Amino acid sequence: NFFNFSFLPKYAGAFVRGFEYTLLLAVVSVLLAVIPALLLALMRLSKNRFIKTIAGAYIALFRSTPLLVQLSIIYFGLFHYIQLPRTLLFGFIAINRFVPGVVALALNSSAYVAEIFRAGILAVDKGQTEAARSLGLSSWQSMRLVVLPQAIKNVLPALANEVVTMVKESSICSVLGMAEIMYTAQAVAGNSYITLSPYVLAAIIYFCINYPASKAIEAIERRMRRGDKQ
Ligand code: ARG
Repeated sequence: NFFNFSFLPKYAGAFVRGFEYTLLLAVVSVLLAVIPALLLALMRLSKNRFIKTIAGAYIALFRSTPLLVQLSIIYFGLFHYIQLPRTLLFGFIAINRFVPGVVALALNSSAYVAEIFRAGILAVDKGQTEAARSLGLSSWQSMRLVVLPQAIKNVLPALANEVVTMVKESSICSVLGMAEIMYTAQAVAGNSYITLSPYVLAAIIYFCINYPASKAIEAIERRMRRGDKQ
């Protein structure tokens, strides 16, 4: 039975907390990823071969290995040496698990967002840089004052899509005991002996977050395109 939700009276609260945990993981990790990603994108566009290679290596590393492996290495490797308190954030988010999770997701996301930024910067017409330079701005000034503001505006929908991606990808954090939606489904399945429906509910919750979000992003993208034509 797909829709045996008889566990809900007892476990609805757990799913609400799982929902909040997932949202927090996704939003915080993308927010943390933005600045490093912008830096990585600028490094990749740099003329300095060394700087370019460093950024390229970081991006290649994080995009060519599974998130599950990165998460495990950061959790058991890096955070083996960083002792975090088990204090609960908002009463249900254990800091010693949440922080490694967010760090891993943010490091992974920054590699993908860097490519978004790089494409966004390259998509700004060359004439913009040429005009800025001929007005006497330095190359960094033209990047910061002319190119980046336009690139960032064009890249906002892709950034929002990255949050949608991370809402789904954060489900991998369940394997390390972070009580987000997927972990909650597993825990409820184990406790209630209802093997299927908790996962069906998890799917419904993910869908109810991501489908409206994607539709809203699409609508904003359409409106931005209309604004550009004028
Ligand atoms: N599922 C991919 C993996 O296991 C992670 C993809 C992350 N994508 C992203 N846009 N941050 O490696």
